[in-house]
Amino acid sequence: MVYSSPIANLSVRQHVNPLSRFFQLPIDFPRLEELFDNPDLPIHLDIGSARGKFLLNMASFQSDWNYVGVEIRKPLVVAAEKEREQLDLKNLRFVFCNANVSLESWLFSLPRNRLRSVSIQFPDPWFKRRHHKRRVLQPSLLLAMSEALQPNFKLFIQSDIFAVIEHMNLLIELSDCFNRFQTSKGLWLDENPFCIPTEREDYVISKDLPIYRALYTRNNQPVPDLTSFQIKYNSLT
Ligand SMILES: C[S@@+](CC[C@H](N)C(=O)[O-])C[C@H]1O[C@@H](n2cnc3c(N)ncnc32)[C@H](O)[C@@H]1O
Repeated sequence: MVYSSPIANLSVRQHVNPLSRFFQLPIDFPRLEELFDNPDLPIHLDIGSARGKFLLNMASFQSDWNYVGVEIRKPLVVAAEKEREQLDLKNLRFVFCNANVSLESWLFSLPRNRLRSVSIQFPDPWFKRRHHKRRVLQPSLLLAMSEALQPNFKLFIQSDIFAVIEHMNLLIELSDCFNRFQTSKGLWLDENPFCIPTEREDYVISKDLPIYRALYTRNNQPVPDLTSFQIKYNSLT
């Protein structure tokens, strides 16, 4: 049975500014032993997990994987964690943090081959050019993910806003660390490869709006140095 979470009765700010002083305070990201019953299982990381519908379902169906969702809006994390406890899921945790502040050192600390896939689904758009720095996928986070993901492991992104996915595509492809998956129809996937929709995905589908989905596989290329990568990225944006 697909679990459907009640989000309507939660009063939560629509956006928070990840660059505000409050969100620059790093948290001690829990160790694997504190997060999961069996810390040796492969991990899927969802960045911007919101109220958690996607991961609650994934973790219910795939008990041989561990799932971690990171989310900057605390009330959503509290509600998702409560739901997780009610479902008694010991292979899932939601962590309140700013992914751009507290996730990178955790990614670097992971045992080799442990992180198997990452998803970034419908990230906040931050349309104005001067706000692009608030977007969640930034050079240093991408490089930390590239370091943690070994060859053949996956990075999935989706958005209903072309400019947002294009920005992520550019950053990912600029790193040279990933190959984009191509179907017989082209570079965009018609379906979510995980087969479980997120809250935002359900909403976008219900409005009959377009969804842009791209799947990447980590290749054998070494992770570039952050300074030179940042210079290359700045020259293109
Ligand atoms: C538009 S929502 C999409 C949520 C969910 N992925 C979905 O598809 O339904 C984007 C989410 O990313 C979270 N977010 C934005 N910036 C973040 C950051 N720096 N660290 C962690 N979460 C962040 C937002 O609070 C929000 O819940």
